Amino acid sequence: MSANKRVPTGVPGLDDLIQGGLQTSDFVLLVGGIGTGKTIFSTQFAYQGAKVLGEPVLFATFEEDAASLRKNMLKFGMDLTALEKEKKLKLIDLEGLEGRGMGSNIDTILAALDEIKAKRLVVDSLTAFLSGAGEKFDYSFLMHLIYKTLKREGVTTLMSVSRFQGQNDFSSSLEEFVADGVFLVENYLAESMELRTRFMVRKMRGTEHSRKYHMVVFGPKGLEILPYTI
Ligand SMILES: Nc1ncnc2c1ncn2[C@@H]1O[C@H](COP(=O)(O)OP(=O)(O)O)[C@@H](O)[C@H]1O
Ligand SMILES: [Mg+2]
Repeated sequence: MSANKRVPTGVPGLDDLIQGGLQTSDFVLLVGGIGTGKTIFSTQFAYQGAKVLGEPVLFATFEEDAASLRKNMLKFGMDLTALEKEKKLKLIDLEGLEGRGMGSNIDTILAALDEIKAKRLVVDSLTAFLSGAGEKFDYSFLMHLIYKTLKREGVTTLMSVSRFQGQNDFSSSLEEFVADGVFLVENYLAESMELRTRFMVRKMRGTEHSRKYHMVVFGPKGLEILPYTI
């Protein structure tokens, strides 16, 4: 058993697979294709911090605009607007960042982290954030810079990474080497000809974690992770 206090993820069924949660200041990636639940998962992580623990959370949404995110997550009972009013949650979307340099976009996020004294940071997605840069950055340098800066800030960070069809699920990108943890979500066609989603912990530094595929089940309160019964 680890003496370190763990940070609960807000995703039912997940904390038990990773010794109770993330470690404070972890930088974790959620990698998956479209419609695998990355945004719902990310919002549950944010909601756990802001609503359940009452800690300030910064959520940077770059694939969906903030209005669409608020509307879609309300369907799962997650009222982001209420949390924003209580100053527990700050949403940033691409609109505020468009047309500016990558350096100043990172500065905007860091300024917002300091402003609200965020304990959690969500970026959905890192892929969209970086592709919006339109600049030639040394990618390796950039990832290490982001990593070191967030460590210094002491926030626990979840970033989604969009993987496109055709990319091998087990191929790794540079950011996965940098990250403290990597969660994988995949859609697949079951024998019943039904589209299903599965989850795996691919990497989690300092943690004895499950190495099994688990089911991702979408329900009225978001998604949860369950063991395969077969
Ligand atoms: N109200 C809902 N009830 C049940 N499942 C839903 C609901 N809304 C969306 N979903 C499921 O969640 C998926 C989208 O999840 P999302 O987190 O936006 O995916 P991603 O961000 O990975 O593209 C949809 O494709 C659908 O399968
Ligand atoms: Mg999404």
